[in-house]
Amino acid sequence: MVRLATMEDIDSIAICLNDAKRFLKASGLIQWNGPSGNPEIETYIEDIKRRHCYVCVRDGVISGVATFMGHENEYDQPLGNWLTNGNNYTTIHRIAVCDKARSQGVATELMRFAEVFTKNTGRVSIRIDTHPENLIVQTMLKSLGYTYCGYVIYSYIPVEPKRLIYEKLMK
Ligand SMILES: CC(C)(COP(=O)(O)OP(=O)(O)OC[C@H]1O[C@@H](n2cnc3c(N)ncnc32)[C@H](O)[C@@H]1OP(=O)(O)O)[C@@H](O)C(=O)NCCC(=O)NCCS
Repeated sequence: MVRLATMEDIDSIAICLNDAKRFLKASGLIQWNGPSGNPEIETYIEDIKRRHCYVCVRDGVISGVATFMGHENEYDQPLGNWLTNGNNYTTIHRIAVCDKARSQGVATELMRFAEVFTKNTGRVSIRIDTHPENLIVQTMLKSLGYTYCGYVIYSYIPVEPKRLIYEKLMK
């Protein structure tokens, strides 16, 4: 079950974040472990305040977290082509699953929820990005029907700022 996160969820969200960071580091990726520190738990606190943060609950335990927001400034000048024009899209950021729940469909459940959420809010598509070496996310996006659209260079990420960009149309 996916629901909006509250401040009471923050300790569980921190477990998801720290597990995800360790998982990426162990996979040899600098993503989420670089000098910018992004994302930090404070990032999720801001997401919760803005009502952008969602958690996936399995057997009463928060197993994963993601942020569903609108327009992303960093997507405005892609090196490539988005499928849609304008800003009527959902951006998915900061999807993280705790170690205990990994590879059990938690991220897929969050991604599917994002589709329902996006359709219900009248938006036309979902956009997301990932590190060029994050092969798990790339495989997941392809199997969920996302289209590769090129890449962006994040202005505030000092090391390895290139991110592959994907979009899925809602129909
Ligand atoms: C990426 C991540 C969110 C996936 O979460 P998850 O709940 O384990 O993923 P799911 O079980 O829903 O699997 C979704 C797809 O991911 C891929 N996948 C998941 N685990 C995998 C693994 N260990 N090896 C290879 N592919 C894997 C598969 O394609 C899978 O689809 P399938 O089950 O139809 O084969 C999770 O591993 C994570 O927290 N990673 C670190 C943080 C991160 O990379 N965030 C995204 C930054 S852009």
